[in-house]
Amino acid sequence: MSKKVIIGNWKMNPFTSKEAEKLFSGVAENISDIKKTEVVICPPFIYLEKLKKLSKKIILGAQDAFSGDVGAFTGEVSAGMLYSVGARYVILGHSERRALGENNSDINKKIKSALDAGLRPILCVGESVRDENHGYFNLVKAQLEECLAGVSKTIISKVIIAYEPVWAISTTPDRKDATSDDCREMAIFIKKILSDKFSAEAGKIRIIYGGSVNEKDAGDFLKNGGVDGLLPGRASLDAKKFTEIVKICEALEK
Ligand code: PGA
Repeated sequence: MSKKVIIGNWKMNPFTSKEAEKLFSGVAENISDIKKTEVVICPPFIYLEKLKKLSKKIILGAQDAFSGDVGAFTGEVSAGMLYSVGARYVILGHSERRALGENNSDINKKIKSALDAGLRPILCVGESVRDENHGYFNLVKAQLEECLAGVSKTIISKVIIAYEPVWAISTTPDRKDATSDDCREMAIFIKKILSDKFSAEAGKIRIIYGGSVNEKDAGDFLKNGGVDGLLPGRASLDAKKFTEIVKICEALEK
């Protein structure tokens, strides 16, 4: 089984390259003895190349990647370009990008291009609201099926699924805390969808949780949430909190 993974999603932060280096180094200095946990940081594109030089231990990821290699796509950055500056993972289908108009079909193309370029996609799925009729299960099912359509069994183990209920994300107005029970229930559901689609290979797909994860609840999600890792956003902007989450993960019994 793959290692557990802690992935920091910096979103559009911090404001300067100097601050980015300071935050990144603050994490790098404190994780030298980490062995069982994969540590990934996803900064804005422009910081990737510089940060790459600061640590061999932290794996870099991007927060989006366009489909295709090169061409007339003003403003876009391709998966191959990101790979060439040191990224090895890419967050795709984050709810903040879906809110800007990205749909499952766009995400599907991006996943395939990312895999072709050697990047491991972190596919974000999750509902905006929980309705009484449990319609959110169908929504997550559709996200998984449409975003992963045509992805081959032979490569599916490279994909990580991040369950991120939008109602629990730190910047959602009137947000609520998700519990490890909410998380475990959805993780079981996601595993079932994946195993229907990818048979035994589904067992190699890591499922992680994101939505206001912090150093206080990380242990609960990892122990009781049925997941193989976490995707903190806000907490990843504080080197101390982020490394604490990494250490909590590292200390877990396997
Ligand atoms: P949050 O962000 O931890 O700040 O809620 C998580 C995410 O949106 O990836």
